[in-house]
Amino acid sequence: MNNYPSKIGMTALLLAAFGVIGSAYSQGDITIWDGVYSTEQATRGAVVYSDTCIACHGQDLGGNSNAPGLVGMGFMFLWEGRTLGAFFEKIREEMPTDRPGQLPLQNYLDVVAYIMQANSFPAGDEDLPRDVEALNGIAIASKS
Ligand code: HEC
Repeated sequence: MNNYPSKIGMTALLLAAFGVIGSAYSQGDITIWDGVYSTEQATRGAVVYSDTCIACHGQDLGGNSNAPGLVGMGFMFLWEGRTLGAFFEKIREEMPTDRPGQLPLQNYLDVVAYIMQANSFPAGDEDLPRDVEALNGIAIASKS
């Protein structure tokens, strides 16, 4: 007999594996390690955070019994493999919980930059893109 069917099987398996990886982020994509926000933006975001998030998520972004932490392993556990666009949308649509969606768009972007900085993801020269499509092109990945 020949081994034709098993070769097909192997090819299908490989394609499936790459499909799964590709749907999260494919090679050549931008990630949070590429300097996607600026230090100035994170500094603005820190003010937004102090004004509108700190009461629930805590001074060190570590969270408490009322709200989850936004940094460290907790952040990566929830968000690795997703995009910065999804993270931004979560905040813009649902935060702060007492008046969701009520902040100016720029404040939401700036606070995302601040959370990136608090997670020790590197800053770059430019602010985050204002466009959700572009934010969706930035993968939340662990450092390779
Ligand atoms: C009144 C309390 C409160 C305030 C103010 C608040 N949050 Fe939250 N936040 C919560 C609670 C409770 C949750 C968990 C429930 C949920 O995920 O919707 C949460 C969840 C989140 C999450 C999802 C956590 C995760 O990793 O899945 C993010 C991100 C977040 N908040 C960011 C913010 C930011 C940024 C601000 C300020 C603009 C903010 N929150 C203001 C209470 C608050």
